[in-house]
Amino acid sequence: MSPARAKPAKGQKKEATATPVEELTEVAAKAELKSLAAEIAHHDKLYHGDDNPEISDADYDVLRTRNKAIEARFPKLVRADSPSKRVGAAPSTGFAKVRHPHPMLSLDNAFSEQDVRDFFQSVRNFFRAPQDVARVEEATIEVMAEPKIDGLSCSIRYEKGMLALAATRGDGVTGEDVTANVRTIADVPKALKGKNWPDVIEVRGEIYMDRKGFLALNAEREKEGEPVFANPRNAAAGSLRQLDSSITATRPLHFFAYAWGEQSAPFAKSHDEAIKRFAAWGFTVNPLSKLCHGVDELLAFHRSVGEKRAGLPYDIDGVVYKVNDLDLEERLGFVSRAPRWALAHKFPAQQAQTILKKITIQVGRRGTLTPVAELEPITVGGVVVSRATLHNEDEINRKDIREGDTVVIQRAGDVIPQVVSVVEALRPKHSKPFVFPHVCPECQSKAVREEGEAAWRCTGGLICPAQAVERLKHFVSRLAFDIEGMGEKHIVDFWTDGLIHAPADIFRLTGEKIIGREGWGELSARKLIDAIDARRTISLDRFINALGIPQVGEATAKLLARHYGSLARWRKAMTEAADPESEAWRELNDVNGIGEDMATDIVGFFAEKHNRTVLDELAKEVTVEDYVAPAVATDSPIAGKTIVFTGSLAEMSRNEAKARAEALGAHVGGSVSSKTDFLVVGADAGSKAKKAAELGVKVLTEDDWMKIARGA
Ligand code: IVH
Repeated sequence: MSPARAKPAKGQKKEATATPVEELTEVAAKAELKSLAAEIAHHDKLYHGDDNPEISDADYDVLRTRNKAIEARFPKLVRADSPSKRVGAAPSTGFAKVRHPHPMLSLDNAFSEQDVRDFFQSVRNFFRAPQDVARVEEATIEVMAEPKIDGLSCSIRYEKGMLALAATRGDGVTGEDVTANVRTIADVPKALKGKNWPDVIEVRGEIYMDRKGFLALNAEREKEGEPVFANPRNAAAGSLRQLDSSITATRPLHFFAYAWGEQSAPFAKSHDEAIKRFAAWGFTVNPLSKLCHGVDELLAFHRSVGEKRAGLPYDIDGVVYKVNDLDLEERLGFVSRAPRWALAHKFPAQQAQTILKKITIQVGRRGTLTPVAELEPITVGGVVVSRATLHNEDEINRKDIREGDTVVIQRAGDVIPQVVSVVEALRPKHSKPFVFPHVCPECQSKAVREEGEAAWRCTGGLICPAQAVERLKHFVSRLAFDIEGMGEKHIVDFWTDGLIHAPADIFRLTGEKIIGREGWGELSARKLIDAIDARRTISLDRFINALGIPQVGEATAKLLARHYGSLARWRKAMTEAADPESEAWRELNDVNGIGEDMATDIVGFFAEKHNRTVLDELAKEVTVEDYVAPAVATDSPIAGKTIVFTGSLAEMSRNEAKARAEALGAHVGGSVSSKTDFLVVGADAGSKAKKAAELGVKVLTEDDWMKIARGA
């Protein structure tokens, strides 16, 4: 995303002292066109290449307008490299989008030994048949343990052994094409060594900057008066997202290979074999990675890597465990965004002490008042922290946190920093307990705290600017509509001036409404309108996420999109589900990963008229694409059908059966209805079998099911 040109204007002086165009001599005009071409090119590079403009949009437009005026008076002086020739073809606005053939998943996190034990218990519960159970027993299960590198993941595609494409993770489904930049990283082979690689293979891993290189880069930037990077990960990300790959080439970037995406043919049976292959093909793999057996060995590995952590040449934030056997892994599959076969075991949080200067109240998009600690800035684990969440009123009272206190704060991974405790010995003499406000600081409406709730809530609803603005910010955010250039500040400004109230208004913005506003010129306004237009078509899961329904984030939105397939079907079902006796309500509760509480919030969203208006208005502006299922076997007899399981199966747990049926393109229902196509009946089947017989639903035995599951 390019920031607005907001810094002090160097170009302004020029306008004030410049000779009027009509008085310019031909010689002077020629000289000025030359310097304007160079100057505008310089600003274009800062703006598009470095995300770091040094003049405002308005001042940039002054330069372009003057260039145009001089050219109009002296047409024969128009230069080959004239900026006016580049107007239509605006400079590159970023990287091309790349859809990952296989999604780039993230990992579930474990923070304690118990979390790790629970995870492997759930792996064991997934399997049922004795031969499978034996492979995942505590003493026998093979698990690869690897350091979790603190960088950014990248997928590098090789076709016939040659590097063809490199993409960032993005939202996991769509990333950005950074091929030219990745080619400059020495650890990444341009051609694979050896012979035994598949024709198409996407090698995935982590791009990172080593600590030494990071410190040297920052020292250099400081010397040049450029802003320094907060940590090696930001430095790696900033370096990879350069539009000019010769800049990336100068940055100390490295790559560890640890996973893969699309493969035209299987190339390994286990993780450790895959890693060995990567090394043979010329990749760097992490030398600490180790094949372990059982949880105790994994925990010992975690401790030992933790002890080495400070001395490693690169940052790590935990350890990743991966079930080694790829057959088991494939059967485990994944739930929404994370695999069932891998887990990130994070290191404990890092702590530091600082002064809490003030407690402010933030208003969320649903009116929740969240207290925030404004801190004397301090570095915790390499990141400067100046704010921490205080959660709610009870939390403040329980810890007796007061303004002016010295507090212990901690940071774990990307989690928002927390205030752990107060150092009472250092409390100022006349300090007073904090009194939680009973009015919304944004709209002065009454705040209420309902019985059984921890949070105070603003009752201002849509008249509360904070709520409206927060919802709009969420709407345009990266995992929702992802409107490039629509920063938080712009939303606040547009909202305040009445340009946008509801989400659909964003799509009704025009250049005329924006140009001339502070900080906006012709170029930046056009860029924003283009960015908005580029998002008039959106995938169903992003659309659902954008709505900001309570409890429905990225992962749940994906579950809903996958289950209902289209906006029309989802909306109809959610309206019908208002009746708790309806089949639609049962179906929603049966979606794997959706509980009753969440279902209530989703149905509640549709029950509100203003939310339905938001949907109707958006329908006039955007096209919501039906959910595209990831590659599934469409030749399976259950593809597109609804299947229900009842009774216990001998060969597969209920979870595995469900996962397998979904991988074969089926919907898995929880109860038998006229919409059910198949009922699989295991041992001790109860009333469902009877109901299926009544409705004429096709009944399958476990043997029939296993044939389908094996693709026979
Ligand atoms: S495996 C499906 N292995 O952690 C599993 N990830 O929280 C794909 N990461 O996006 C990831 N070191 O950027 C894996 N040895 C490692 C890793 C690793 C770092 C990052 C990666 C991923 C994130 C997930």
